[in-house]
Amino acid sequence: MYKQGFFITTLVMACLLLFACHAKVPDIETQLQTTLAAQTVSPLDVGVAPDAAKVALGQMLFFDKELSGNRDISCATCHHPSQGSGDGLTVSIGTGGAGLGPARQIGYGRSFIPRNAPEVFNRGSAEWTTMFWDNRVIIQDGGFHTPAGDSLPAGLDNILAAQAMFPVTSADEMRGLAGDEDVRGSVNELALLPGDDLPAIWAALMTRLFTYPEYVALFEAAYPGVPAEELTFAHAANAIAAFEIQAYTLPNSPWTNYLNGDSSALSELEKQGALLFYGDAGCATCHSGSLLTDQTPHALAVPQVGPGKGDESPLDLGRWRETAVDADMYAFRTPSLHNVAVSGPYMHDGAFATLEAAVLHHLDPETSLLTYDPTQHLHPELYDTFQNDPALLAEMLEYVDPELAPERPLTATEIEALLAFLQTLTDPAVNNLDQFVPGSVPSGLPVQDIVMQNSH
Ligand code: HEC
Ligand code: HEC
Repeated sequence: MYKQGFFITTLVMACLLLFACHAKVPDIETQLQTTLAAQTVSPLDVGVAPDAAKVALGQMLFFDKELSGNRDISCATCHHPSQGSGDGLTVSIGTGGAGLGPARQIGYGRSFIPRNAPEVFNRGSAEWTTMFWDNRVIIQDGGFHTPAGDSLPAGLDNILAAQAMFPVTSADEMRGLAGDEDVRGSVNELALLPGDDLPAIWAALMTRLFTYPEYVALFEAAYPGVPAEELTFAHAANAIAAFEIQAYTLPNSPWTNYLNGDSSALSELEKQGALLFYGDAGCATCHSGSLLTDQTPHALAVPQVGPGKGDESPLDLGRWRETAVDADMYAFRTPSLHNVAVSGPYMHDGAFATLEAAVLHHLDPETSLLTYDPTQHLHPELYDTFQNDPALLAEMLEYVDPELAPERPLTATEIEALLAFLQTLTDPAVNNLDQFVPGSVPSGLPVQDIVMQNSH
């Protein structure tokens, strides 16, 4: 009798306990840890620190307008420390323009660059296999595939260096147009070279650089033992990449700290946002891995603004321009989201001024596209570039990647949590990048541009 009573009591207690455990929803911390473990989310591996002598050379090259045909624009103009490694513009403004930042002015008779200048954070990570919004520089079969084809020189250190070969060759970005005079009133000899003769353009740039004894010394220090006649623009590109990695490796965000085990690095709201990102909101389907990108193109029906690209202008057909595969129509590479709070405007053409608008577009691309108001997001000069033909909009919506749809509609509080999570991807050091702006460069051309604030 006694035994039986004990048995029943134990049974009842066990049942109660089991019920309690089942009924209790695990707290947000446990849920998030379980989700992250299931998806093996790991902190970012930023790679090895670059060689100091290459960084020193690369810093000069990155800020020196000598690399542009008209000596009026450097890499830094469009990827500036004060602008979150971008330029703060919807679409970039190339040679002929003036000023820095959101209100940089376009030069008379020039066109806007087709796309938004992306951030260049954490590009030292060995995980990067693609560059550009349309992946036109990509590692395939162990080699670099680029628009240069067989003309791409050997000896490039990484895909970032492969990328650095190209901005100097673009007439609208840096090289200039035949007939241009540079800021000193000399003929722009780079612009007179045939646009498809990339080796000639790279050689002419090296000739320019070697007229300055300071560059000769910097190259010697970065490449000791390499005879001057063997130095090519690939060596310059490797140095530029080394500097970009030195200045723009910024992984130390609250999110990284959280992944490294500091559970207090995120607030409850931010954890809820992370849980949605890796769960019901479906963000991590594409913003996956430690870089928060699958480096794959997807079509999101982002409003088409700006001049468009190539023969299809005023449209920009994205990855399709490289592959001519129907599935690549209007598709652009998923951007990495580290430090995304400081890298606006957003999307391949900067169509959205705020993170909120960029995220809302994902959640309901149809409403976002059909109600897009250029006056809310763009500089007045770009209002008219919004392509709003109803047939086009319908076609763009047909191509939207089905993976974009979240598991279920999100509430306003959940959207707020998602946005709070995106803020945790910012490394506070991003506000301290001025130290990388040099006082002067070997050419003696001005380094400091006037930072122009957005006036509209
Ligand atoms: C006129 C502005 C401008 C200048 C000058 C410029 N860029 Fe860019 N940069 C852009 C734009 C716009 C893109 C995106 C183009 C595209 O994807 O089609 C880009 C893309 C990039 C990317 C690719 C990032 C990624 O992951 O896709 C890197 C890296 C980069 N630029 C570095 C440089 C370097 C190095 C220089 C100097 C040699 C330079 N840029 C000069 C505007 C500029
Ligand atoms: C189907 C793949 C996919 C999914 C799912 C996805 N994204 Fe994106 N995301 C992209 C692509 C592709 C772009 C760039 C599109 C373009 O420029 O045309 C982008 C752009 C962004 C941007 C702008 C970043 C920048 O630098 O311009 C943010 C922010 C963003 N996504 C956040 C999110 C959030 C939050 C979610 C979940 C609600 C999400 N994404 C879900 C593919 C995706």
